[in-house]
Amino acid sequence: MSSSLFITAVLAVAALAAPFSSGNCDIQHAQLGLPANQTALAQPSGAPSFVLLGVGVQNYTCSTNGTYLSAGAVAQLFDISCHVKSPMFDNIQDVAFARLQATSRKDDCDGDIIGMPLPRMGDHYFVTPPSGTGISPVWDFRAFGRFKGNSAATVLAAKVANLPAPDGAENVDWLQLKSISGDLATQIYRTDTRGGQPPASCTPGSALVSIKYTSKYWLFGSTV
Ligand SMILES: *[C@@H]1O[C@H](CO)[C@@H](O)[C@H](O)[C@H]1NC(C)=O
Ligand SMILES: *[C@@H]1O[C@H](CO)[C@@H](O)[C@H](O)[C@H]1NC(C)=O
Ligand SMILES: *[C@@H]1O[C@H](CO)[C@@H](O)[C@H](O)[C@H]1NC(C)=O
Repeated sequence: MSSSLFITAVLAVAALAAPFSSGNCDIQHAQLGLPANQTALAQPSGAPSFVLLGVGVQNYTCSTNGTYLSAGAVAQLFDISCHVKSPMFDNIQDVAFARLQATSRKDDCDGDIIGMPLPRMGDHYFVTPPSGTGISPVWDFRAFGRFKGNSAATVLAAKVANLPAPDGAENVDWLQLKSISGDLATQIYRTDTRGGQPPASCTPGSALVSIKYTSKYWLFGSTV
C-alpha cells in the first residue's frame, strides 16, 4: 500500500472510530423515533434502558405454497447506548449493513464484522416458548461484559404490533414486543431495519435461507 493510501485508510478508520471513543452516555435523552403518521406501534413510556445495534440474519423456510415463512433470527447485539448523541447514531445501521453485506464471514467475531469498536452486549435468537408452540425471540446479555454470569440478564418476548418499514419494503418490519419472562426488559422495539426480507417466492422443499439484516433494538423497563 502506498503511504498516502495508508494515511487515507488510517484517517478513514479514525473518523469512523472517533464518535465512539469518548461517548457521553446520555441515554435518558434517547428518543425512539417512530414516524409521526403511524398508529401501529404505541410510543414507549420513559427512557430506554439499553439501545442496541443488531447485526445478523433473518431465517426463512419455504412453505408448501411457495412463500417464505419466518423461522426466527440470529444476531449479535452491540451496545450503542452511549452513542445516542453521536453524529453516527442515526445511520449506524446503514454503516453496519454495508459492511455486513461486504463480508462472507458468518462467525461470531466481536465487532470485526461491522468494523466498529462497539462493545458486544449479547445475543438475539429464538427458542421454543414455555407454551411449547412456535418460536419466541430472546435478547440475552448473560455471556458478555458487565452482565456476564447474571442469570437475570435475559428476556423472552412476544410481538405486540408491527409496522412495515417506513423507509423501504426491502427492510423487515419495525416491531413492538413485550416481555413474557426475564428481567432484561418489559418492552422491546425494533426500528431502523436494513434488509432481512426474503425473496418473493420459493420452490417448496428448498432449504432454509438466511437473509442478512441490521436494526436498532430499544429495551425499556430493565430491572437488571
Ligand atoms: C408517513 O411518513 C413517512 C415518513 O416518515 C412517509 O414516507 C410516508 O409516505 C407517510 N405515509 C403516509 C400514509 O402519509
Ligand atoms: C402459505 O402457507 C402459510 C402456512 O404454511 C401461510 O401462513 C401463508 O399465509 C400462505 N400464503 C399464501 C399466499 O397462501
Ligand atoms: C438461522 O440460520 C443460521 C445460519 O445462517 C443458523 O446458524 C441458525 O441456527 C438459524 N436459526 C434458526 C432459528 O433457524
